[in-house]
Amino acid sequence: MNKAKLIIDGQEWEFPLLVGSEDERAIDISRLRSETNTITLDPGFGNTGSCESAITFINGEQGILRYLGYPIEQLAEHASFTEVSYLLIYGKLPSEDELAEFQRKLTYHSMIHEDMKKFLEGYPPTAHPMAILSSMVSSLSTYYPEVSEKEPDLNIVRLLAKVRTIAAYAYKKSIGQPFTYPQNHLSYCANFLHMMFAVPTEAYEAPSTLEEALNVLLILHADHEQNCSTSTVRLVCSSQADLFAAISAGICALSGPLHGGANQRVLEMLEMIRDDGSDYKKYVSMAKDANSGFRLMGFGHRVYKNFDPRATILRKTVGRVLDEMGIDDPLLEIAMNLEEVALEDEYFVERKLYPNVDFYSGILYRAMGIPTNMFTVMFTLGRLPGWIAHWNELRANPDGRIGRPRQIYTGETEREFVPIDER
Ligand code: CMC
Repeated sequence: MNKAKLIIDGQEWEFPLLVGSEDERAIDISRLRSETNTITLDPGFGNTGSCESAITFINGEQGILRYLGYPIEQLAEHASFTEVSYLLIYGKLPSEDELAEFQRKLTYHSMIHEDMKKFLEGYPPTAHPMAILSSMVSSLSTYYPEVSEKEPDLNIVRLLAKVRTIAAYAYKKSIGQPFTYPQNHLSYCANFLHMMFAVPTEAYEAPSTLEEALNVLLILHADHEQNCSTSTVRLVCSSQADLFAAISAGICALSGPLHGGANQRVLEMLEMIRDDGSDYKKYVSMAKDANSGFRLMGFGHRVYKNFDPRATILRKTVGRVLDEMGIDDPLLEIAMNLEEVALEDEYFVERKLYPNVDFYSGILYRAMGIPTNMFTVMFTLGRLPGWIAHWNELRANPDGRIGRPRQIYTGETEREFVPIDER
């Protein structure tokens, strides 16, 4: 076995080198502290593998993303989101019968308990749908606390089916419209669009362009290995908390602007530039000035340092949807200008800052009529099967331990307590 040598204070230690199925290498330091009384320090975890995983492979230098070995480009072109969800959750592509049964279950479990609608009544109209979603998902464990051994994946199916309904209801709540119940004859994506946009007073049929675009969007977001929200889900799961608790925590982590919340911020940034006379160059200059506190939202990625393959697919989808829907969006022009400048500008080239998935998804959601504050909810819908797959993988690992990082303490050393009248 290959080994890595580490010399601490003149003493030499050896640690095993692990190699993944795509030849990526890691030093196994699981005995480091017990043998050397030393830990590693890696703020932001850019050099730390938290687990071994067989779900998703990313090569950020080459712009590769694969779910269980299948390239994202092929899945986005040929698969349905339910098929990809099955792949991630059960580890293989479904047969026709398996897919039909999975779709039947997702349809059958799509209604939420009527009492849960009362929760929605209680939130203020200004509540962000992500905050509503995380609370509602957390509440699901009060309705479905236990799973029988006969149907171990029942809560997984419930989660996938009901989050879609909760997300659409959160939107209906925010615009003061009555909730629209799911329809069993519709596909996963068409059903969501129906619950979002149908009203009791007239018939609604989701345009096939939108259904197809939503399918691609959800597939592209379905998993992304150990990102902030997935690591959160795994960490919560490691304490043996239930599925709903872990996913609710994942939703909270995803909501931040540096993660899933970036898609909302991209749109807000484009609108700000438009309202400021469309002077995009001014904003490129601001992004380059470290003191401005301004970043070009939708640019840069911790892992992709060449291009984000999801962004490449979405860029084409955006063009197609806008064409087919006959939409001429001035924000798209600003986005294209920003992209062009940023791809040529030394600052962005040197730092390998390329448009990421969130840069285009916002424009696409907008074209689909989805309001800006729902963008991160859409990301959540897509990411659910990935989170569930990681939750499954962690629970199935017999050597799993509770996640518990260490720290380097930099505070005061021991000192005497001072009574309040002497301070
Ligand atoms: N605009 C301007 N400068 C940037 C940007 C940006 N969007 N992103 C990074 N930089 C600069 C940063 O200032 C730093 O410069 P310097 O070396 O001179 O100090 C350098 O690039 C490296 O940045 P970093 O913050 O160390 O990189 P990171 O890997 O920690 O952060 C990131 C990655 C995605 C959080 C960051 O690029 C960012 O804030 N982007 C904007 C938010 C965004 O689009 N997030 C969505 C990510 S993709 C969807 C998802 O997976 O959630």
